[in-house]
Amino acid sequence: MSDVTKAIEEIVRAAGTMMREAFNDPRKPAYSLKGRQDYLTVTDGAVERFVRGEVERRFPGDGVLGEEDGGAVDGARLWIVDPIDGTANFARQIPHFCISLGLMVNGRLEAGAIFEPMHNELFIAERGQGAWCNGARMRVSSQTELPAASVEIGWSTREPTATYLGLIQRSMEAGCSVRRAGSGALGLAYVAAGRSEAYAEAHINAWDVAAGLLLVEEAGGRVNDFWADGGLRRGNAVLATNAALAEQIGVLTGIALK
Ligand code: IPD
Ligand code: CA
Repeated sequence: MSDVTKAIEEIVRAAGTMMREAFNDPRKPAYSLKGRQDYLTVTDGAVERFVRGEVERRFPGDGVLGEEDGGAVDGARLWIVDPIDGTANFARQIPHFCISLGLMVNGRLEAGAIFEPMHNELFIAERGQGAWCNGARMRVSSQTELPAASVEIGWSTREPTATYLGLIQRSMEAGCSVRRAGSGALGLAYVAAGRSEAYAEAHINAWDVAAGLLLVEEAGGRVNDFWADGGLRRGNAVLATNAALAEQIGVLTGIALK
């Protein structure tokens, strides 16, 4: 593991401790809504400020793009952070949320990690070196049959209801089990870990997927070209699959794989 990847691990573990302590605080995290079904807690901002500070201290001059405070995306080295992915779960006391931190160099993801603090699970990858969950090498599932496949389909108010329902309907009619657990980043990590065959969402933001896309590729899976058409600034559709079902799931979701 490179020094950069070790730094990523240290940062996400420390951020995870902040999240776990806030989640377990008996006063319960207060939340507000940025918009319909778009949750915000004080911990989102606190964790993002912590990560920005760590990146600035360890890698002066690098850029940071974050869910809460934005950031310029034109430098050669860009850190992409979602301080809490699954904020609705965090706010409602459901222990399924994470921090996601990825490093992009000249437009290509080079390293990234997702840390899920309530089960102490670290998913981490480095370009060309592989992907690991708590030290064990990850491989995508070898499932070849859609009637045995689990697909997670993400949802937000950014897309029409009909688009989401269409994805669910086509997946179910093909025989898949469909879930939505409320964290796109963990959804991608679970594909890398072989716990789901695919994660799909009609629109998602760069901070949700920056680490997860690399995890899936390094675990032998397939992903779409999320970064095409301004995905870094505006977000894009996302699809990540195991290798064996990639063509079939690409057709049924209508999201083209690389
Ligand atoms: C959301 C979650 C959700 C996904 C949405 C994201 P947040 O992020 O990842 O699962 O479907 O597209 O916006 O609000 O929990 O940071
Ligand atoms: Ca998010």
